[in-house]
Amino acid sequence: MTRFLAAEADTLALGAALAQGLRPGMVIYLSGDLGAGKTTLARGVLRGLGITERVKSPTFTLLELYTISSLYLYHFDFYRFNRSDEWADAGFREYFNSESVCLVEWPEKAGGQLPAPDVKIEMEVDGSGRSVTISAHTEAGNNCLKRLQH
Ligand SMILES: Nc1ncnc2c1ncn2[C@@H]1O[C@H](COP(=O)(O)OP(=O)(O)OP(=O)(O)O)[C@@H](O)[C@H]1O
Ligand SMILES: [Mg+2]
Repeated sequence: MTRFLAAEADTLALGAALAQGLRPGMVIYLSGDLGAGKTTLARGVLRGLGITERVKSPTFTLLELYTISSLYLYHFDFYRFNRSDEWADAGFREYFNSESVCLVEWPEKAGGQLPAPDVKIEMEVDGSGRSVTISAHTEAGNNCLKRLQH
């Protein structure tokens, strides 16, 4: 599924819509160049889940965590990883479990050890807006995407 997002508000709205289909255990990859809108989309997801506090980019902290009623949401940004083994060394594996949702910016930087995604979101600058392509890679991902299409 591909969509054009003319303005930041559209990216936030898509994130909020996506949030409704998230279930514990899901892994979402957020790919795209610097400034493509990955953090904005994650912010939309978090707003959709009811988070009202400021959503910071994890660019420097690598990880920001949120607890939403019984759901743990981990928002990662692996941009600063230089070697593929840094992900394993950082001890992040335990965060990818059946009780948590993981949103991952720059998954490419984590190398091949990162758990596979349920949903992949690829963003790119398109004129003054963004274009986004979303694909499902598991049954859970498929269910999430189906909700988006309604
Ligand atoms: N649909 C859109 N149209 C226009 N601008 C947008 C859109 N979505 C997001 N933006 C803007 O793009 C800029 C960069 O967004 P963001 O920080 O989310 O990118 P990013 O992909 O997370 O970058 P990085 O790789 O540096 O973490 C922000 O100023 C944001 O407001
Ligand atoms: Mg970002």
